Amino acid sequence: MAILVLGGAGYIGSHTVYELVEAGRDVVVADNLVTGFRAAVHPKARFYQADIRDRAAMDAIFERESIEGVVHFAAFSQVGESMSNPLKYYENNLSGTCQLLQSMAAHGVDKIVFSSTAATYGEPEQVPIVESAPTCPTNCYGETKLAMEHMMRWVSQANGLRYVALRYFNACGAHPSGVIGEAHNPESHLIPIILQVANGTRKQISIFGDDYPTRDGTCVRDYIHVTDLAQAHILALDYLLAGGENNVFNLGNGVGFTVKEVIDAARRVTGHPIPAVVSPRRAGDPAQLIASSQKAMDVLGWKPEYAALDTILSTAWKWHSTHPDGYGAE
Ligand code: UFG
Repeated sequence: MAILVLGGAGYIGSHTVYELVEAGRDVVVADNLVTGFRAAVHPKARFYQADIRDRAAMDAIFERESIEGVVHFAAFSQVGESMSNPLKYYENNLSGTCQLLQSMAAHGVDKIVFSSTAATYGEPEQVPIVESAPTCPTNCYGETKLAMEHMMRWVSQANGLRYVALRYFNACGAHPSGVIGEAHNPESHLIPIILQVANGTRKQISIFGDDYPTRDGTCVRDYIHVTDLAQAHILALDYLLAGGENNVFNLGNGVGFTVKEVIDAARRVTGHPIPAVVSPRRAGDPAQLIASSQKAMDVLGWKPEYAALDTILSTAWKWHSTHPDGYGAE
């Protein structure tokens, strides 16, 4: 029996496929390659270029392959874009998931692990954030991910689907081999942008606001290594395969770093001065997001291995220093 990874050519999806293959699992990947890269797909995974909104394409995969569980990363994930083009997010993230769940039900596949986000919480009342905290998204991206969680819950009540939603905090880092890594087009995430300064692709990094109520005035985030996220997906799959009930887990290290601290760590790791300028706040940024991942540790037995910020940055630098054009250089 195989695991079907939707969005397995994207950043977190491709790293999860690597961990699944390395754990000896039979893996099928489907990705429409709109934001993913064919070169990111592990050579041992069977690849289908397919869109989750295309019911016939999904049905064909379920008919051809023997699928025991689905890991679902296939969604748009740019917060800014979701605010300027909300319907693009509803159409892909929600109606795509609706098509997928129909196809799964039609083929008797009833287990799914999927990407949710810290953006489901919005501005937190308390940190570290626990899963029972209020969910009040401040952007459309987070709203669609929360709606996906609710969609799964109702479908579960109706037809017995079982799901695990994994709420990631700030995914970062790259496969320790340096063979795959983080590449978005356009890039908007802090660590890739910092490392693009170090590899000569950009001149400087803009710090979005230094007047937040934090220790140095810049935003605090909980940075979690992508390989640790990948391992959590395998644990969540095994939990469902062993009969585990529907669940939601935060995934973070439980430690927050400011933007300035991340830039300083990158200077240490790369040996590059990384010029930085302070610019205005970016709309919609909460001051502080830190996860409590105690539940994932207790229930799934999850334990992050790459927790140190310098280790995270070293793996990311291994990728960015050898792939200045991302997958475009292949
Ligand atoms: N930042 C800068 N300069 C930049 C880029 C980012 O100062 O050039 C700052 C941001 O303002 C923020 C921090 O760096 O304070 C991290 O920003 P990212 O864009 O890397 O990540 P976000 O925290 O905005 O977003 C991440 C995920 C989203 C998810 C969100 C949950 O990328 O998908 O966490 O809150 F929705």
